[in-house]
Amino acid sequence: MSSPVVVRVPAKVNLWLSVGGPQDDGYHDLATVFHAISLYDEITAELADTVEVTVEGRHADRVPDGLDNIAARAAHLLATTMGVTEGARLRIRKQIPVAGGLAGGSADAAGALVACDALWDLGLTRDDLAGFAARLGSDVPFSLLGGTAIGTGRGEVLTPALSRGDHHWVVAVSDVGLSTPVVYAELDRLRADAVLPEPFVPERIMKALMSGSPEELGGALGNDMQVAALTLAPGLAPMLRLGEEHGALAGLVSGSGPSLVFLARGPGHAEELVAVLRDVGHASEVLHAHGPVPGARVVEPVRV
Ligand code: C5P
Repeated sequence: MSSPVVVRVPAKVNLWLSVGGPQDDGYHDLATVFHAISLYDEITAELADTVEVTVEGRHADRVPDGLDNIAARAAHLLATTMGVTEGARLRIRKQIPVAGGLAGGSADAAGALVACDALWDLGLTRDDLAGFAARLGSDVPFSLLGGTAIGTGRGEVLTPALSRGDHHWVVAVSDVGLSTPVVYAELDRLRADAVLPEPFVPERIMKALMSGSPEELGGALGNDMQVAALTLAPGLAPMLRLGEEHGALAGLVSGSGPSLVFLARGPGHAEELVAVLRDVGHASEVLHAHGPVPGARVVEPVRV
């Protein structure tokens, strides 16, 4: 009998997110800088007759299990396209907050692709897997790649970015629900009369990433979606201010929110920020992470 496969896959934040106008298909052209951080979901895959998904961990009750889970869709897509007749029992141990803006679902889809490729001994390349990933969601290819990368198109066309150093981040998660399509629609509404430039990534953030200096990086972060997320969830603004008042080098909405991310001066400062933000109680969860970290990968072949 073949051994279970264990895959670890990180959350992402967007260090920069420039959004163009809506296209005919409803999607938006993006230019973004993705950054993988050390909050991980772990996916264990074992051979089974069919595809089954269960979710455990602190956030399990907020994630669909069974065939509604994006990891199940990933496994099915791989099986159908590759003519695999075996199934997979996928157990997801969730540590990435489910709130949104951190690509938790995309992480599970990427993790399922890597796990099933190994379990079914398909021998696919990372490029092959990226092709499947793009069909599952705009952020899934980055969950596979990890590190720091520029994303264009819908976010699925990736170029790894040169960066130096390890940065410390504080992620604050709130319970306000923000749906990604609704935040995009609000952004379109707010900018209905504006002439929009092509989405772009400024030179400044690339230089800041290469310098390794958190101070420089803090001055270069930005997110077009933030104004829309804050309009829909005004309660996020006081939390952003609080982080900045306590010395965060930057505070911004991650992706379409509602998760907030703060850049700390170093590990000690990150712990201070965690304590302050937990204390005021606006956030349901406040976590310290560092990045960049690698994308979805097999971590531990367990022998049975
Ligand atoms: O691709 P994904 O399923 O993650 O996208 C979720 C939703 O976000 C889409 O249905 C679309 O409304 C919006 N979106 C967009 N432009 C993008 C990426 C996502 O409008 N580039």
